[in-house]
Amino acid sequence: MKGIILAAGKGTRLYPATKAISKPMLPVYDRPMIYYPMAVLMSLGIREIQIISSPADIGGYNRLFGDGSSLGLDVSYAVQNKLRGIADAFTIAKGFIGDDDVCLMLGDNIFLGQAFYDSLQEYTAPVDGAVIFGYPVEDPRSFGVVEFDENFNVLSLEEKPEHPKSNYIVPGLYFYDSSVTEVADQIEPSARGELEITDVNKVYLQKQKLKVKLIDKETEWFDAGSADGLLTASNAAARAEKESGEMNCIEEIAYKKGFIDAAQLNELLQPLKKTKYGKHIEKVLSGEI
Ligand code: G1P
Repeated sequence: MKGIILAAGKGTRLYPATKAISKPMLPVYDRPMIYYPMAVLMSLGIREIQIISSPADIGGYNRLFGDGSSLGLDVSYAVQNKLRGIADAFTIAKGFIGDDDVCLMLGDNIFLGQAFYDSLQEYTAPVDGAVIFGYPVEDPRSFGVVEFDENFNVLSLEEKPEHPKSNYIVPGLYFYDSSVTEVADQIEPSARGELEITDVNKVYLQKQKLKVKLIDKETEWFDAGSADGLLTASNAAARAEKESGEMNCIEEIAYKKGFIDAAQLNELLQPLKKTKYGKHIEKVLSGEI
């Protein structure tokens, strides 16, 4: 399975904070936001990852992850020249996806909760169609919304509905079979001029090839795309670390998954030694955690 992180978008809901910097580069507590989606893909055992961003911002991601080899990954980069929407990622990454399944993560979506990361094992099997998730929120109007029957069969999907039919939003984590590139080519831009991921999911729904899984209640999900969302996510990440030592740091995942060995982890640790983040890696290296 291939992995894509979409780190495009103007981030206008965070202006002026994102005027000169790409949103997923902003810190969520102690690390760049994009480390969280990266941690999700790595927890899935995905090692071939493409990051998609704007021509102005792609260089920053390249400086952050390079070719990925220090984490035992193969990271490549692609540019989205025009903001055509999330589904455009599949057209951009067509060659990268090839005949493989693909997991797409949005660069501003944050998941916290060890149980969630552990549950990802379930999604490493080949995908037949598409798998998306449902997560209950108080006000779902700014998201993709999924409506279920009592057996959790999907009844409808709507992007940013004024009158949501349920409280379940669809977070920015999606699994597809390789036919997603053809599906993305078929859909038309929405009223806001974007190729919507919800329209891709609707095609799979029509074909009866869409599965929706509910995210367990212990998991916290955040869209860090607004100032309040970003602050809430940062506070929650700090709290999770204090309360349970939960870090989900990419260096630890790389080591525990066997992508890198102890010598490589030690190298990654060197520039991080002054921080709590680094102290956590020290404990991983010594076998304490
Ligand atoms: C996008 C998707 C939406 C999804 C959300 C998750 O919204 O279009 O379906 O629920 O991400 O963060 P956007 O960030 O483009 O407003």
